[in-house]
Amino acid sequence: MLGDTEKRLVAEVLDGFVLTHGPRCTEFEQRFAERIGVRHAVTVSSCTTGLQLSLMTIGLKPGDEVLVPAETHVATGHVVEHAGGRPVFVDVGRATGNIDAVKAAAAVTGRTRAIIPVHYLGLPCEMETLHALAERHSLAIIEDCALALGASYDGRHPGAFGTTGSFSFYPAKHITTLEGGMVTTNDDAIAARLRNLRAFGYDKSLGERKIPGIYDVVALGHNFRMSEVQAAVGIGQLEQLDSFLAVRRRNTKILLDGLSSLNGITTFPIKHGKAESACYCVNIVLPEDGRIDRNKMIVKLNAAGVGTSVHYPVPVPLMTYYRDKYGYRDGNFPVAEWISGQAISLPVGPHVSVDDAEFIVAMVRQIVSELS
Ligand SMILES: Cc1ncc(COP(=O)(O)O)c(C=O)c1O
Repeated sequence: MLGDTEKRLVAEVLDGFVLTHGPRCTEFEQRFAERIGVRHAVTVSSCTTGLQLSLMTIGLKPGDEVLVPAETHVATGHVVEHAGGRPVFVDVGRATGNIDAVKAAAAVTGRTRAIIPVHYLGLPCEMETLHALAERHSLAIIEDCALALGASYDGRHPGAFGTTGSFSFYPAKHITTLEGGMVTTNDDAIAARLRNLRAFGYDKSLGERKIPGIYDVVALGHNFRMSEVQAAVGIGQLEQLDSFLAVRRRNTKILLDGLSSLNGITTFPIKHGKAESACYCVNIVLPEDGRIDRNKMIVKLNAAGVGTSVHYPVPVPLMTYYRDKYGYRDGNFPVAEWISGQAISLPVGPHVSVDDAEFIVAMVRQIVSELS
């Protein structure tokens, strides 16, 4: 939700002369780095482009393999393809929807270069186990933190564990910049390379040029930059993050208290081991045997005024592009297939009041009993 603060900050940008990659971007980066507890934060045009740049910074080569959870947004697979590598998909765990560390270890080959832990719906992956795996095989960890702003693992923020962490500011995320993203890292050289690659591979940024308009290009970079308007919105949003998170947590608790004991329904917890969720949304996953028709239930919920989504509708390796290219088949990823086939994502964001959350609980309970 955008408010007066963001509108004021945007108006200041529009009244000024610097419309893109200027002081607001720098300020947003500094504030974000402080919030995550890392040395560097780099504004980018989306989480997707942040992940892609991250893979470029580790010098992925054709044939290099990257471990990717099967249950994620297609972006997590596509970035590996765009960066010239091969995504190797791994099933997820039943208790969290996060990458299964045992199956990830079994998928490592001599060509594996990196792993992309996706903090599914905001609940951090088991970073200790994944770190040990990465150390054992010299893998880079490229965290996908698209839904994890405000989460923690062992008291630290996701995005502070890996080689890099990429965040999304698409609308409906914990904070928005309309489109936009941020890459975090503690590595000075990686940060410099990210900054270089997000802006064409220029040898000098605008501020470093002695004579305006004169530069050389040292790498095959992209234009993945953020505008000053977006950064201004982001600064305003970041100021409100704690209040947004408090509402998300409150609503998540209401939904989990009301729904987690429902017969046959699986939910994912707010806390799991050392992980504490950023409460992006509440997934209810219906029984595997299909005795409750998921899509019928969605239609009924929507008709009752309950907004829903599905995270994610098809496991990425079973999407046509990946099936056709790599030959993945139904049954290869049983847990991801169960979640994709049977999950309904319920909203908990700042627009959801206590009354709304209680209404959602009542409607879900009623419709489950109608369809059972
Ligand atoms: C896990 C995950 N990764 C990446 C993305 C892509 O984010 P963006 O739209 O900022 O590129 C999404 C989008 O929802 C996502 O859910």
